[in-house]
Amino acid sequence: MRAARRWAGITQEQLAGLSTVSVRAIRDLEQGRVRHPRRETLRLLADAMRLGDARRAALELAVEGAPADTVMREAFGTELAPSPEPLRRMVGRTEELRALTGLLATEHERLLTVVGVAGVGKTRLAQEAALLLHTRDRMPVLWVDMSTPAPTSGTARSPRAALTGWARSVAAGGPGLDELASVVRDRAALLVLDGHDAVPRPVPQLLELLHGCERLKVLITAREPHRTPGNRLLPLGPLPLPAPEPSAGAAAPLPGASLAAGEPAVELMLSYVGHMRPDLLPTDSVVRTVARVCQALDGVPRAMESAASWLLLHSLEELLRIARSNPLELVDDTTLSDVNGEGLKALLAAAVDRLDDTQATLLGGLGALADGWTAEQASAALAVPATTMAREVHALVLRGLVRRLPAAGEGASRFGVLNLVRGLAADRAGAAPHRFGALVH
Ligand SMILES: Nc1ncnc2c1ncn2[C@@H]1O[C@H](COP(=O)(O)OP(=O)(O)O)[C@@H](O)[C@H]1O
Ligand SMILES: [Mg+2]
Repeated sequence: MRAARRWAGITQEQLAGLSTVSVRAIRDLEQGRVRHPRRETLRLLADAMRLGDARRAALELAVEGAPADTVMREAFGTELAPSPEPLRRMVGRTEELRALTGLLATEHERLLTVVGVAGVGKTRLAQEAALLLHTRDRMPVLWVDMSTPAPTSGTARSPRAALTGWARSVAAGGPGLDELASVVRDRAALLVLDGHDAVPRPVPQLLELLHGCERLKVLITAREPHRTPGNRLLPLGPLPLPAPEPSAGAAAPLPGASLAAGEPAVELMLSYVGHMRPDLLPTDSVVRTVARVCQALDGVPRAMESAASWLLLHSLEELLRIARSNPLELVDDTTLSDVNGEGLKALLAAAVDRLDDTQATLLGGLGALADGWTAEQASAALAVPATTMAREVHALVLRGLVRRLPAAGEGASRFGVLNLVRGLAADRAGAAPHRFGALVH
């Protein structure tokens, strides 16, 4: 209570005046003569001191009886587990998981960001990595969902909620650094900031926290790269797709369906299809059509999940037709009950909107090329200098709007614009005020 009042920079008398709580009651609280004030009194005081969520939580916890720091340190034990635990098995991602947990296990990697387009599976991968570190290395994990608004003040009644509140506040550039650092101290721990998308600029508080807590690691998931010094970016692309089928008559059809079913994207899509339409047995022809739908949806898990829900209305063949002609129609998932926040369609549109005009024009141009171009070919086709093209393609791959296709042997990397954003890119490029001319200089 005293710490909070000093932070607010006011005297006991001033606080009494602002809060309508008597000076005497304030003094009793500060000197520990009264340990259990009424909730309403506490609210009046916290309001008068204009306490943020984190300080408010600390004040409430202090009032619960035990000294706040002891409660917190106990809460911050190995039982601090990532939440919520995923219900379904993760498909594929073996290498990504190995890379991520490998980096988290080394001493010098302290700040990692998984970046990729909305719905690609960043949260899912982070959950899996956090769970592994928690169960295997008994690492305490503090999981903060940055994509939902902070709970309204006064509700942070558990130590865990207070810890989460401080972490959320620090990550957004607010107060709470000292409180959090005093609990974590020199213990090994993992802080996950999931869906940390609303940061306009680097947040020095996060680096301070890392400097203050020597064995703390921070794992961020975000749709766009954070420009924080020392931040290691892990771009996450969509699930691998089956190789495109040879054109008709080129070769005998592969005994192929079972082959395609082993691809992570197809395996995941088949599980969604199976849930939606148990009557659709995975025959060769069903698997082949599902594989084509996956291709049209770029192997983006959330797109496939949303699209599968349309099987309530459409046949599989119809779904494929729409996925190829207008995939966005299938991913406007705001009506799905388990989707909180924005639908995938809106998120993809926002990602394209955030591009500057140059990038948007370029993405539109790249989207018009047949998939499988190299940076060099794109540079020639769009008459853009090779260095500019390399830089822009790099940025677009990092944002996940362009995907790298499986390499055929030793040759140059080949790329393709996500089918899901092709139409958006074309619209945006049409609206952009200049064309490639501006890039040639
Ligand atoms: N490898 C995977 N295996 C199974 N389900 C996945 C996988 N990747 C993503 N999902 C599912 O797809 C949806 C979107 O993934 P999510 O991790 O929320 O994406 P992001 O955080 O990148 O927006 C979630 O329902 C998630 O459980
Ligand atoms: Mg996420």
